[in-house]
Amino acid sequence: MIRVVAFALTALVSALAMAAEPAVPAAANADAAAIATKVCAACHGTDGNSSIPANPNLAGQHASYLLKQLNNFKASADGKPALRQNAIMNGMAAPLSADEMKALAQYFSKQTLKPAVAKDEKLATEGRALWRAGDMKKGIPACAGCHGVAGAGLPAQYPALAGQHQDYLISQLKQFRDGTRANDPEGMMRTIAAKMTDQQMAAVAEYAAGLRQ
Ligand code: HEC
Ligand code: HEC
Repeated sequence: MIRVVAFALTALVSALAMAAEPAVPAAANADAAAIATKVCAACHGTDGNSSIPANPNLAGQHASYLLKQLNNFKASADGKPALRQNAIMNGMAAPLSADEMKALAQYFSKQTLKPAVAKDEKLATEGRALWRAGDMKKGIPACAGCHGVAGAGLPAQYPALAGQHQDYLISQLKQFRDGTRANDPEGMMRTIAAKMTDQQMAAVAEYAAGLRQ
């Protein structure tokens, strides 16, 4: 009897856990795990912690944000170019089905991000001021306003930045500044990055890299 009740409870709990996420067919989930470990792992790490600073960590990132990016990397069926341009990722996203993208986003979002530390304390302190208070004179808002004080972000729109590689963060800020990356809703990040100096980008990236969600 106890066993039956325990089983029923387990089934109920897992049914509830699954109901909280967009449904993905079991086959797509199995597919995604295979794709993640055989394909994506080469650059993002099997568990979504990449060892190459130019490749973003995907572990612990909001699934909704990861899914949006995968959709943005894929050119639309009517031949329009992908919203987010990157030669490598445009190629990676091309063969993925909608269900595979959903399952991959969930797979990486469930992995645990390995904590990192800021290497340059002085630079990180300068970054912290910009992160928390922005730069009134230049009209730069506080990053914390959208990405959270601890850099955990806010689903579905605002990605977590805590513990992300500094090099990757700087490269995205520069891409927003020169418009190479233009998939941010209402140009939110392009407007901000346009006002930032290289020094401010380096400082805030150093600070965010050392944050823990
Ligand atoms: C050959 C290396 C490589 C492989 C393999 C690869 N990626 Fe990437 N990925 C990158 C790079 C580099 C970027 C950063 C692109 C940029 O600068 O905009 C990236 C960015 C991303 C992003 C955006 C993350 C963010 O924070 O905005 C997602 C999501 C992603 N990859 C998912 C995947 C998935 C899923 C796979 C497997 C199907 C995969 N990648 C395979 C190199 C790779
Ligand atoms: C008004 C809200 C808002 C503010 C303030 C803001 N951001 Fe963002 N940021 C966003 C949104 C939305 C995205 C996701 C864009 C997308 O959908 O691709 C983003 C994405 C990013 C990314 C890309 C992350 C990735 O994984 O590729 C970086 C880096 C970033 N922001 C840095 C900053 C920094 C640094 C500041 C402070 C100087 C800042 N943001 C302030 C809204 C904001």
